[in-house]
Amino acid sequence: MAESKVLIADALSPAAVSRLQSGGVQTDDRAGIDPAELAKILPEYQALIVRSRTKVTADLLKGGKNLKVVGRAGVGVDNIDVAAANAQGIEVVNTPVATSVAVAEHTFALILALIRQIARADASMKAGEWDKKNLEGTELAGKTLGILGVGNIGAQVAKRAAAFDMQVLGYDPLLDAATLQASGAKAGTLDEVYAESDVITLHLPLIQETRGLLGANEFAKMKRGVYLICAARGGVIDEEDLVTALESGQVAGAALDVFEKEPPGANLLVTHPHVVATPHIAAQTAEAQERAALDIADEVLNALHGRPLRWQIK
Ligand code: MLT
Repeated sequence: MAESKVLIADALSPAAVSRLQSGGVQTDDRAGIDPAELAKILPEYQALIVRSRTKVTADLLKGGKNLKVVGRAGVGVDNIDVAAANAQGIEVVNTPVATSVAVAEHTFALILALIRQIARADASMKAGEWDKKNLEGTELAGKTLGILGVGNIGAQVAKRAAAFDMQVLGYDPLLDAATLQASGAKAGTLDEVYAESDVITLHLPLIQETRGLLGANEFAKMKRGVYLICAARGGVIDEEDLVTALESGQVAGAALDVFEKEPPGANLLVTHPHVVATPHIAAQTAEAQERAALDIADEVLNALHGRPLRWQIK
């Protein structure tokens, strides 16, 4: 039987490419391929591996006549038309665990940068200033951290919050209270998380139910002076409403790694003095990216060889 062919459309580490090859498949490393070329050559392949750059649309998939699996080295599958893939009998797999620690650590980097004004302090030092009086911060100890979405990443965030002596209140519609509590968070309703948290961090996917989840109505339910953190997906927070809430002081500050439109440019939110912004780098550590590349190589091999799948997206 001819070997399956795997098209790598976004960068994958050499170790992951070797893992695929020693798993008995041919690989074609075309990282950075443009959409027109991808559509042209896709019919030759049984598997396609992407990160977030490549958009796997229904139109593209229609041309994937021999495609058995699309692998996403990463968590979010919002760049893949999963319904269209499943309708064609194409498996979609991702790597939901590989990057959890990196994202949880970045979440704490964002929280601390925001409440201790690290970016402003650094900018003022670089401008030759010594501005102690305007750089007073806030402590985390004794405060309540609200976590919206207590999955792989949210649970890692809860664990780290305990080390900062924070109380943790979690909301996750997919988990029962006992499972949620096992990760170190007390289970709360959405309204309880809004009302009781000093810092709220989001770890939810962007799906129909979460698009625009946090807007003017929700900000109004939060403590005045709350801090908001988002390293999940742009579009879960209404950005216009967030600017208004920052202006009024209802939200004291926001630290954001993700945006509705990426890159967002120097818009009102990114340039706001009470916002710390990073360019979607929460999962971007050497260790996490290597784990994700190896995990997706294994999972794509599982799909091609008809073995049970660990991370199948429906
Ligand atoms: C993910 O979904 O894996 C992260 O947000 C990283 C990314 O999309 O590049």
